[in-house]
Amino acid sequence: MSTIEAESPAPAQLLFDSISSRTCIVGVIGLGYVGLPLIDAFTSAGFSCTGFDVDATKVNSLLAGKSYIKHIDDAKIAAWLEKKAFDATAEMERLSEPDVLLICVPTPLDDARDPDLKYVVSTCESIAKSLRPGQLVVLESTTYPTTTRDVMVPILEKSGLKAGGDFFVAYSPEREDPGNPDFSAAGIPKVVGAIDETSLQIAKALYESAVAGVIPVSSCEVAEASKVLENIYRAVNIALVNELKVLFDEMNIDVWEVINAAKTKPFGFQAFYPGPGLGGHCIPIDPFYLSWLARKQGSNARFIELAGEVNRAMPNYVVSQSAKFLNEVQKPIRGSKICLLGVAYKKDVDDPRESPSFELMELLLELGAELTYSDPHVPRLPEMRHYDLPAMESQELTPDFLKSCDAVLIATDHTAFDYEAIVKHSALVIDTRNATARITGNREKIRKC
Ligand SMILES: NC(=O)c1ccc[n+]([C@@H]2O[C@H](COP(=O)([O-])OP(=O)(O)OC[C@H]3O[C@@H](n4cnc5c(N)ncnc54)[C@H](O)[C@@H]3O)[C@@H](O)[C@H]2O)c1
Repeated sequence: MSTIEAESPAPAQLLFDSISSRTCIVGVIGLGYVGLPLIDAFTSAGFSCTGFDVDATKVNSLLAGKSYIKHIDDAKIAAWLEKKAFDATAEMERLSEPDVLLICVPTPLDDARDPDLKYVVSTCESIAKSLRPGQLVVLESTTYPTTTRDVMVPILEKSGLKAGGDFFVAYSPEREDPGNPDFSAAGIPKVVGAIDETSLQIAKALYESAVAGVIPVSSCEVAEASKVLENIYRAVNIALVNELKVLFDEMNIDVWEVINAAKTKPFGFQAFYPGPGLGGHCIPIDPFYLSWLARKQGSNARFIELAGEVNRAMPNYVVSQSAKFLNEVQKPIRGSKICLLGVAYKKDVDDPRESPSFELMELLLELGAELTYSDPHVPRLPEMRHYDLPAMESQELTPDFLKSCDAVLIATDHTAFDYEAIVKHSALVIDTRNATARITGNREKIRKC
């Protein structure tokens, strides 16, 4: 455990001591896909946590021992409550109670695709109303470099307290990988940057006591930039394989076979896979936080913009290929019964945010398809802000149902789908994820896309 020099302010030493003794109360603001796994990491490490959310339904659900996130089950919440390690509230006046506040609220894009920091701003305004000396405030939400110092600190200082002297401020980006059983929040090392050395040492001590490792960096800006780099790296590499998929399709070369061959190189190559478009709360959004900042400063983030252009074109490509495949069996999209498999944005999760499936569905409906969907993790189609889709319920993939379809379109390759049965009973399977790679029978029905 780190300690600080004798002349350092007393509140810092109190915080170090309470982290070391686990008497420090950890407040987590935003009880979503990031906040709940973080609470799991801190309660597992022996801390008591208080969760804050403006959505009282979520708070009440948690207090009743019920989770609303697939990979945090009810038993886990019940265990936190039973050992009195967890409380949840929608009352922001209680933000003065915890010693540490970890902010995990959304950072979306607005309608002009510019950063929308309204949730971060309103959270900081709530904190400022009850901020007390000695609290550590850490932003975990993904954002552009300078947000912590230039947006968050001035709002917090409206409390009359001074950042770095009276209270402490750091930035530590979340690196959650939903649906990946190999990584819990506690198992993923965290990058930490802060506005000053004392804040950095406190934040480092806090996270070291709950997660697999801490990588301290010299500033909040480096930590903020490292998170956007991680997501830009994915967006750009996915765009590259998406573009190559379209090229290789024209050359009758199977892009998945190409990638599987290339990844046998033991160095210098990491495999990324094509798909029907980008989804989730991170990869389709976060890169544009940086390109916005670049534009504001008169620069150009060309790789980010180009990757966005290529990735955003994928749903249209999938629909035009689907029209071609149906045409081969004398069917137009209009009037064809098409079932889309998987509306969650990635395999084995229940999160539909930014999923390309919604755009696929909208495009197919516009062309007159008789559309249905199936997703074991999304029983009813949620209302989505940018899409106007009719109410639908997930279809059970019985042999009779599959036989009644003109085509099934695999958009998300959930493990729960029985691909053998899907190929056996369907007339045409359009596979955007190479999910049917291991199916040996009836391969003439499969079209990769
Ligand atoms: N989901 C992921 O896999 C992931 C991974 C890494 C980073 N992130 C980042 O973490 C952040 C949170 O993402 P998420 O997926 O957990 O979002 P989420 O929508 O699942 O959860 C956010 C929660 O914050 C609550 N909230 C909004 N405004 C609030 C306020 N003023 N006070 C209190 N609560 C408020 C919402 O009601 C919601 O429950 C985002 O910046 C995201 O980019 C997400």
